[in-house]
Amino acid sequence: MIIAPSILNANNLQLGNDIKKASEAGITRFHIDIMDGHFVPNLSYGPQLVKDFKREFPMTDAEIHLMSDNPKDLIPAFVQAGADLLEFHYEAMDEGQVSYWLDYLASNGVRPGLVLNPDTPVSVLDKFAPKLKQVLLMTVYPGFGGQKFIEASIDRIKEARKIIDQTGSRITLEVDGGINADTIKLAKDAGANVFVVGSYLFKDGDVAGKVNKLNEILA
Ligand code: DX5
Ligand code: ZN
Repeated sequence: MIIAPSILNANNLQLGNDIKKASEAGITRFHIDIMDGHFVPNLSYGPQLVKDFKREFPMTDAEIHLMSDNPKDLIPAFVQAGADLLEFHYEAMDEGQVSYWLDYLASNGVRPGLVLNPDTPVSVLDKFAPKLKQVLLMTVYPGFGGQKFIEASIDRIKEARKIIDQTGSRITLEVDGGINADTIKLAKDAGANVFVVGSYLFKDGDVAGKVNKLNEILA
């Protein structure tokens, strides 16, 4: 079970401190949301943030959640910046491009992941599973932190878990959006094993306390 904090709703001027506090509480991976103002109606970080992150925290994984329909310019830039895992949206390109970019990531030593929006059929995973290290099911519509977990996600997590188990591979199943002390348990019981947590972790300053609490629930 992995908790991957999303830094989107952290105080960006305190980012280094918050990352340090979470790391001291045992966090080994951060989820970095890249938004292009086009695929989603919000803007966030560029490759420089990832470079700085890997310079300051070389032993911690940078997981890039790319919310953009411009893979050609952005995927190579984030690979170059030091991404350890990069996951992009199925909805952002045609299926030929999805295959191409998953192969591109693998051949550049970056773990490839595919993200599905809440309305995208989970069955599309059948085609791409052999190329994946991680599946990310959005449990909110992407674009902003602090939204409410969509309950219908539970059945989608179960369906994705089934598809992954049938492949016999060790693809991780991640959920992103509205994860807190209540919804993390529901997602885990449905079959998720990586949990992106944003506003719940960062909203009141006690990052370590929240990480410990979630670890207890997952144990
Ligand atoms: C939403 C992002 C999420 C978000 C999670 O588009 O992909 O990673 O920051 O934040 P919370 O946990 O607040 O829903
Ligand atoms: Zn995300």
